[in-house]
Amino acid sequence: MRVINFGSLNVDHVYNVEHFVKPGETIASRGYQQFVGGKGLNQSIALARAGATVSHAGSIGADGVMLRDVLIDDGVDVSFVFEVDQPSGHAIIQVDSTGENCILLHGGANQCNAPEMIHSVFDSADPGDIVLLQNEINDLPEIINQAAGKGLTVVFNPAPMSPDVLEYPLHNVDYLILNQTEAVALTSEEKVLEVLQTLGQRHPKSKVILTLGSEGAIYKDCDQTVCVEAVPVAAVDTTGAGDTFIGYFLAALACGATIERCLKNACEAASICVQRAGASSSVPYKAELQNGGQW
Ligand code: RIB
Repeated sequence: MRVINFGSLNVDHVYNVEHFVKPGETIASRGYQQFVGGKGLNQSIALARAGATVSHAGSIGADGVMLRDVLIDDGVDVSFVFEVDQPSGHAIIQVDSTGENCILLHGGANQCNAPEMIHSVFDSADPGDIVLLQNEINDLPEIINQAAGKGLTVVFNPAPMSPDVLEYPLHNVDYLILNQTEAVALTSEEKVLEVLQTLGQRHPKSKVILTLGSEGAIYKDCDQTVCVEAVPVAAVDTTGAGDTFIGYFLAALACGATIERCLKNACEAASICVQRAGASSSVPYKAELQNGGQW
């Protein structure tokens, strides 16, 4: 079973700051580093490091060769990463003294996936493949519908959340993986129980995985609710933690692991990620997990 990840590829410009810049304020950064990122790329790398077979589909500019190379280095299939006539996507990321981040995105090539490219990916799909999506590329409604129309399992991470997600064909999504901010924006509910109840009523056939940062994660479908606590650690940089969670969760799911094991592996991998700087570079290899990342 393969995961086909239609996702963004970004160059991350990361600035360490005492606090996030306020409106009208100018501050000096304490440090600057450039990393390879993008929610799509990070999730492909997390899947590969967790042992999954993954094909990445997306677009880069002429300046983005290293984005493709990083995927190749981790064993990700890049047959569907195409070069387009736009600069690659990039992100301006501030990381504060608590390890929290705020991110400004420029979509660039990520918003230039061509219809022919999307069709060619689906032409190569096999029954049983999983299609993974985040909200950083163009034509998501079309991709969701094509994937569902082919009978593939659709996993959607509505990150970063935007108002148009409310119009997406979410009834065609099998697994919705989101954090509290995204869940509140999607449901207009504040409390976890109410968020889960609202999503369950709106999308009765979808499985929902709600990540709660240092509080762990919850899975809910129409038959069961499974909660797992986070592994307590001191965070240096939370960038990429959600992406690591998703890659590890899906890799275990694709191998038939129990939901509890999927959540535990995902939380442990995310806890390792936050102890390191950067996005894709901080995703652990499965041998770094206590049980060797087994299911
Ligand atoms: O989830 C972290 C990622 O969000 C960063 O790598 C950045 O590129 C943005 O896409």
